[in-house]
Amino acid sequence: MDKPAKFYITTPIYYVNARPHIGHTYTTVVCDAIARRQRMMGMDTFFLTGTDEHGQKIERSATAAGCSPQEFADRISAEFRQLWDRMNLSYDDFIRTTEPRHIRGMQALFTRLQERGYIYKGSYSGQYCVFDELYVDAAGPGAPCPECGRPTETVQEENYFFKLSAMEERLLKLYAEQPDFIRPEARRNEVVAFVRSGLRDLSVSRTTFKWGIPVPGDPKHVIYVWLDALANYITAIGFGSDNPADKKKFEHYWPADVHMVGKEIVRFHCVYWPAFLMAAELPLPKAIVAHGWLLFEESKMSKSRGNIVRSETILDNLGADPLRYFLLREIVFGSDGSFSFDALVERFNADLANGLGNLSSRTLSMISRYFEGEIPYPSQERSADDEAIAALAGKTISDFHAQFEQFQFSRALETAWGLVSAVNKYIVENEPWALAEQPGQDARARLATVLYTAAEALRIVTALAYPVIPESTARIWRQLGLSDIEKFDLRQLSWGQLQLGTKIGKVEPVFPRADKSTIERMQQMEQERSSSTESKPATDVSVGGAQTGQSARQAATGPAASASAETKPAVADSRITIDDFLKVELRVGEVKVAEKVKGADKLLRMEVDIGTEVRQIVAGIAKAYEPEKLVGRKVVIVANLQPRKLRGLESQGMIVAASLGDDGTPVLAGFLEDVPVGAKLK
Ligand code: MSP
Repeated sequence: MDKPAKFYITTPIYYVNARPHIGHTYTTVVCDAIARRQRMMGMDTFFLTGTDEHGQKIERSATAAGCSPQEFADRISAEFRQLWDRMNLSYDDFIRTTEPRHIRGMQALFTRLQERGYIYKGSYSGQYCVFDELYVDAAGPGAPCPECGRPTETVQEENYFFKLSAMEERLLKLYAEQPDFIRPEARRNEVVAFVRSGLRDLSVSRTTFKWGIPVPGDPKHVIYVWLDALANYITAIGFGSDNPADKKKFEHYWPADVHMVGKEIVRFHCVYWPAFLMAAELPLPKAIVAHGWLLFEESKMSKSRGNIVRSETILDNLGADPLRYFLLREIVFGSDGSFSFDALVERFNADLANGLGNLSSRTLSMISRYFEGEIPYPSQERSADDEAIAALAGKTISDFHAQFEQFQFSRALETAWGLVSAVNKYIVENEPWALAEQPGQDARARLATVLYTAAEALRIVTALAYPVIPESTARIWRQLGLSDIEKFDLRQLSWGQLQLGTKIGKVEPVFPRADKSTIERMQQMEQERSSSTESKPATDVSVGGAQTGQSARQAATGPAASASAETKPAVADSRITIDDFLKVELRVGEVKVAEKVKGADKLLRMEVDIGTEVRQIVAGIAKAYEPEKLVGRKVVIVANLQPRKLRGLESQGMIVAASLGDDGTPVLAGFLEDVPVGAKLK
């Protein structure tokens, strides 16, 4: 017997070191629209999202926030979930990598890889980028990460390795045989080139920190965070469980039909993930689909650049549907796209308030007024205009489906809104309000036909748009006198299904117009949010050290900067914004070692524990402080300063001190109360 048709779609699981922003919202909204449409197409659909909670990055962020990694993860994960609920995202499950079901499943996968001979013990010495949680080919300590430009850290440890090199041929064969495995094609070409250039075995465990899933039987090691994270796609649907219901669920839903990802994590999904699955002898996902980035003022929206926009600001002012619509309509899927409040409001007014909203309210209120709220009987006689609308509706349905299936959401919506504009024009040209004034049966029959045609076209657009704007389309659907839009079978959608005589519901506006004050309010809210501690990294730690010149420039043109430029005159003085100040990472450190530097009477070399690591710092304080007296003392460190060399010694940060008198005698900053090592100052 055939398996019931199923559709399994996933988002990446989001790191909990940062609060959600509209970049994360974008991916999740795309998946939600796909999942909702699949359900309407009769598919047994499973939509998974969740949070990625282990690894050094999260451990450090928690330390900096002064709480345990678990507490930290609980807090941010809950924020993601609450936001997804406000965004009306219909996920079927939300997996957290700290949940027992995931830990159990991950360990089962690790054991399975070991049993099949794909894991061995070796030693790794090289560079690691904590921001990307990635082993990189970078030369020497502190060398920049080739992916993000942040300084890398040297890792030297005994690790478990995965035999990635053994997978080269099989991966290339997979890409060749299944051209749709990676979409869009440009991404596929990048991946093929990467694999062709040769794969080295991958270190899949770490021993230098604790926040991760222990390797089965060797708990000194924690599993590499990317192996841990990727496994969520199978552990969430029951892999590794002994429970028969879980096993059945896994059999039913695996392999995934679509793993949706941002373009920066394609390699993990298209190289590592299929390699792990091949080694574990598990079926491979059908497609990895990569989208582009949401840009704000020309650069990728991300917390480290300080140019994020929060979905909450838009939810508070316009609601979920306008943002959902904007993200799918405005951004050409696969390419990068820009966000701005002006563009959001413009799109909202043009397509939703004036377009669909206007079509819905004028059509339904005329039916209410002229036909006592009943869908009127169209006459047998059709004008060329009526026929044209019916024909366009048929074509709209088939084009919309074809475009949506090809992930061309923007085009699909453009197609649907082509029908909205055509019907709005049809109403204007056919003047139902004038027909209503004319005496006689002919005018009445014509009025019925015009309003029936408009209402039927409205129904069709509403059904097609439901996956994208579920809340407003459900309201229009009810106003059309229909029930439960999500139960409607989209496969059956065709012209002429609107039942004559259906009693329509209460007519209410669905999209009240937004004006300039809405834009200003949103900009103001973002500005306040970004200059308050709410969105600032009290919870965040810059793991990579100093920003590059480029990102520092980009941060300066982020949302706060642009909003203030519009509302306030430029102030020509040397004051900095709170954002500028927050770029300086000040941390409490404890001096572990202090000694004089030979041949330099002012310099001391110190080793300072800053909670997450011990830094060597060279400072000009030897005349004021005896080295022995400094050991054990708590000091304030500028932790994200670019390293520099003093007398041949690398100084990895700066110690903060007051500078007194003409000769600048240093007095170290300190605390009256006891403070934990690693705490952040702000
Ligand atoms: N935890 C990993 C993923 C593990 S999946 C097994 C991770 N997390 S993340 O929090 O950094 O989220 C990455 C995803 O968020 C991106 O792949 C993308 O889907 C989404 N986005 C984050 N910022 C974005 C933009 N500015 N624009 C579009 N999408 C963005 O990587």
